[in-house]
Amino acid sequence: MSNRRQFLTRFIVGSLGATGLGSFFLSGKDKPSIAQSSPKESHILSETPDQTFEGSPIRIATLSDLNGPYGTTAYRKEVRQGIAHILQGKPDLVLCGGDMIAGQKRGLTRQQLEAMWASFDRVVAAPLRQANIPFLFTFGNHDASNSRDRQGNFNFASDRQAAADYWNAHSANHASPRLTWLNTSQYPFFWSAKFDDIFLLSWDASGFRLQGEHQKLAWEALKSPIAQQASHRIMLGHLPLFAVAKGRNTAGAILANSQYLLTELQRHKVDLYISGHHHAYFLGRSQNLDLLHLGNAGDGSRSLLVGDRPAGQTLTWVDAINNPGQFSYTTIDLKTGQAIPLEAVPGQITGFDGRTISRYS
Ligand SMILES: [Fe+2]
Repeated sequence: MSNRRQFLTRFIVGSLGATGLGSFFLSGKDKPSIAQSSPKESHILSETPDQTFEGSPIRIATLSDLNGPYGTTAYRKEVRQGIAHILQGKPDLVLCGGDMIAGQKRGLTRQQLEAMWASFDRVVAAPLRQANIPFLFTFGNHDASNSRDRQGNFNFASDRQAAADYWNAHSANHASPRLTWLNTSQYPFFWSAKFDDIFLLSWDASGFRLQGEHQKLAWEALKSPIAQQASHRIMLGHLPLFAVAKGRNTAGAILANSQYLLTELQRHKVDLYISGHHHAYFLGRSQNLDLLHLGNAGDGSRSLLVGDRPAGQTLTWVDAINNPGQFSYTTIDLKTGQAIPLEAVPGQITGFDGRTISRYS
């Protein structure tokens, strides 16, 4: 084991020992455990290792799929517990994988859509805003579906308008002196930004077809020196690149041309792709790219395609550790407050398309 690796292991084990994982409701000054899974071997290790471990990691809370049944303004208790857990954990940043409200039903009125966003604001956004915890997101199909009819018009144009109106009026949800916007030309559907030295990009993966324009914008943004020189590169998209869950093992539930997109993300040195939609937590890895499939916080938890782990709501702590491109992860079962060991999920999952994703290691 190299000195760097030994130092990293000590750092993580020490943090685990210091904070523990037992309590769901942590005291105000305590933070959730720094790591449940070992960090991957770095692919861009610094040559000045001892200096790179100074200071705190950037702690990011990630959650997804908060919605209940179509049209509801209610959030189930696991969503509220998840927000309470985040408030107690005091992350630097929250990233959401989409499906914040329960839209995507024909006939929902503007008034109903506004009521759902108002409820999201009350239950999710306002408590974080008041705690000065910035919140960034990608849209899901229940927020702002990008599906189109044969003429090319959006099937849920009113959902998209209401979602854009809410976010354009609530930039305070993102507010942080540590956040620098880079490309907001298509905000809130596509955006890129830096948080400290972490590059962040969200594209509109609210349906299986990505807009060509968003792909072009994404590759341009990722190629830029500001992205390539960032310490970590994170992308957010609601639909994943691999099928992992029962009931989501279909072409419509992952991004079209996923293998091509995966290769492009790797070629552009993305370190982490965060997705939702499958309602089942699975942390995968392909070459140097971590693929975090977030579980849901709202209704409709699903089982993974492999194994017998019971379905259930989760959220995941992502710590951008002080080593470029590396993260450590802790996923919490929102019913019990306990961390889910990485080994509780299967080592590999093969989807309908014959493509296999391996567990992070
Ligand atoms: Fe979804």
